[in-house]
Amino acid sequence: MKIIKAIFIIILLALSVNYATASTPGKSSFKTGNGQFLLNGEPFIIKAAELHYPRIPKEYWDHRIKLTKALGMNTVCLYTFWNAHEPVEGEFDFSGQNDIREFIKLCEANGMNVILRPGPYVCAEWEMGGLPWWLLKKKDIRLRENDPYFLERVEKFQEALAREVGDLTIDNGGPILMIQVENEYGAYGEDKDYIRNIRDILRRHYGEDILMFQCDWSSNFTANGLDDLLWTMNFGTGADIDSQFSQLKQLRPDSPLMCSEFWSGWFDKWGAAHETRDAQDMIAGIDEMLSKGISFSLYMTHGGTNWGHWAGANSPGYSPDVTSYDYDAPINESGQPTEKYRLLRNTLEKYLSPGDTLPGIPELISPISIERFSLKEVAPLAYNMPEPLKDSLIHPMEDYDMGFGSIQYSTLLPAVEEGTILEVSEPHDYAQVFVDGKLIGMLDRRNGDKEIILPGNREGARLDILVEATGRINFGRAIKDHKGITEYVALKNQNDNKVSEINDWEVYLIPDQLSFYESLNFLPIAALSEVFTDRLPRGAYMGTFEVGSPSDTFIDLSSWGKGLLYINGHAIGRFWEIGPQQTLYVPGPWLKEGENEILIFDILGPQKAEVEGLTYPILDSLNIKGNVAKETKDLTDLSYALSLSFPDGNGWKRQKFDKRIETRFIAIEPVETFDAEAPAIAEIYLLDENGNRIDREKMTVTASSEDFSTGNNSAAKIIDLQESTYWRPDDYDKSPFVIIDLGSVKTVGGIEYLPRMETGAPGSVKSLKIYGSSELK
Ligand code: GLA
Repeated sequence: MKIIKAIFIIILLALSVNYATASTPGKSSFKTGNGQFLLNGEPFIIKAAELHYPRIPKEYWDHRIKLTKALGMNTVCLYTFWNAHEPVEGEFDFSGQNDIREFIKLCEANGMNVILRPGPYVCAEWEMGGLPWWLLKKKDIRLRENDPYFLERVEKFQEALAREVGDLTIDNGGPILMIQVENEYGAYGEDKDYIRNIRDILRRHYGEDILMFQCDWSSNFTANGLDDLLWTMNFGTGADIDSQFSQLKQLRPDSPLMCSEFWSGWFDKWGAAHETRDAQDMIAGIDEMLSKGISFSLYMTHGGTNWGHWAGANSPGYSPDVTSYDYDAPINESGQPTEKYRLLRNTLEKYLSPGDTLPGIPELISPISIERFSLKEVAPLAYNMPEPLKDSLIHPMEDYDMGFGSIQYSTLLPAVEEGTILEVSEPHDYAQVFVDGKLIGMLDRRNGDKEIILPGNREGARLDILVEATGRINFGRAIKDHKGITEYVALKNQNDNKVSEINDWEVYLIPDQLSFYESLNFLPIAALSEVFTDRLPRGAYMGTFEVGSPSDTFIDLSSWGKGLLYINGHAIGRFWEIGPQQTLYVPGPWLKEGENEILIFDILGPQKAEVEGLTYPILDSLNIKGNVAKETKDLTDLSYALSLSFPDGNGWKRQKFDKRIETRFIAIEPVETFDAEAPAIAEIYLLDENGNRIDREKMTVTASSEDFSTGNNSAAKIIDLQESTYWRPDDYDKSPFVIIDLGSVKTVGGIEYLPRMETGAPGSVKSLKIYGSSELK
């Protein structure tokens, strides 16, 4: 009897192994041929759902994969996040949320293929684009280039990653169909040697058989395209699909076509309007691609959450991303299918093979509310400063071996006249300046703030500059993003402009670590002797709350300032009163029945130390005065005007000026469009006297008006390096314009203009006027 039972179990096990590899039985192959992808020799259209394992609570991985399967997808596309896997140089972590092997195995068990995008750089609105902060300890490091140390560390990480997942490629009988080399390198530079090096590292660890590809934009993919890699395009909802692939079709008529990132929505930034993208436009794009046999990955199909301090920041300028990565995706941040999901499911159903049916939608989660409660204890930062280090010069936090958190620089001032300017170059990212313990003001990197006027003081007054770091930039050249104060602090006399640097600092490190916060001295809030009329003190707050039966909830932090939330030891994420995100998503499995622990570190101090759990998220509530950046510059002193005209249609347009302009501010006034639409500008580059693009890093843009009726079409979009986003004035603005502040006086000799990506380039500008200060003599 026992033997029969054992045989039965063995048969069951054998069957389950077969089921696990059902999509790719035995040794399989994934190749290209005759303009198609071929899975085991058969034509195959990739319908991929982009999902990021560290952004989804592990307990919900299976649920979310099942949701994408029920949507009609056949593949999961994922990045790997180097900095999550190697938090300390040489120490790798593939456990818990980082267990990528388990995630890929779950995809396989659900009959899904996998596309692996191992970076090393991934962008993804993730801290530093996935690169570990500790790389910045090497001062002269050249990130994403042939810097020997950078490449050595990439090799080590890829080796560790391949140890986890290298045997899961399709040629080993696993679910991984293909592997991406680097990420949109065209938006960073031109360096085929570097791309070759990354390709070779990946080949060393995954072998010669697996299909490898590189993704870029249709406007720049040839810059770094290697002959032996497949080329795929990235573009978003609304884009003109034929024009996106036209150059690729000419260059490689036999290549299968794939949109490797079809953007379903967009990401949110602190202090900017919530982003959405039209559902019908997204469906139409997917429908068109499928009707033409084009493969795609829907970025994001489910975005999830930037837990803890993992949210990145965009540049040019500095725009930190919020904690939610909801992305206006078909499956929302907390795993609920949206209207987009239902519409897309109907569309994908049309393209099923005869006889196939979609699996049912898995059971959905019912969120709970948590009654408003007060946090009872506080550890005010002012009474809890750690032992300071001494340093004669200013250094960023990486130099003190700290990656995340806040840092305070303190010193004694000389006698300072009223009206003297304190110059802080540069505060990364949010500085509070105190003289003799009194708050003088804030410097917010988002606004390019670097100066503050001092009230005047006696010799020996104490200066404290408390700097909080938000996410490191994940896009463009500015990813080498040190935190704290990165250059110097100086006093500038307004009368004679004399600048004197301030040296001899005491440096206090306030790491973003739960163990650090917990080690502080807490006291009952009620015991605070001071009277707080505006805010309670900056510092850590602790409390407990009761939960009946745990499920998902959304913690409302709208009465808090700026900081980080921890629940039961889980780093939930950053909050900031300016919004648009006001609630933080807390997954049910991270709550307990009975008593739960909450810790909030607030660098500004809350108005009320109270919290409540809602059954719904608030992601679109801006709490700043005048989100719309009204024009700030008087146009009358931009006296020199120039008229230009452009041809119709999609794609970049370039115009050299017949004269050069010497100016700091340049106004662009669209005069006429090719259609009846309001004018739209996706990107602008100003060119110098030699026709080279002027660096946009220090530029800021304001506009006469900004349209928020169909999404976030703010002025900043014209320099955000993203070709799918654009500025559009509101419909009532009859003489719209944008003003670019170049940061300093420059010579401008031309312009490059990109209209919207959508078919017919809606709002494409036919003629415009340019204003600057003076014609160059
Ligand atoms: C690019 C990047 C992605 C992501 C999107 C925007 O396509 O490749 O990582 O940053 O932009 O969400």
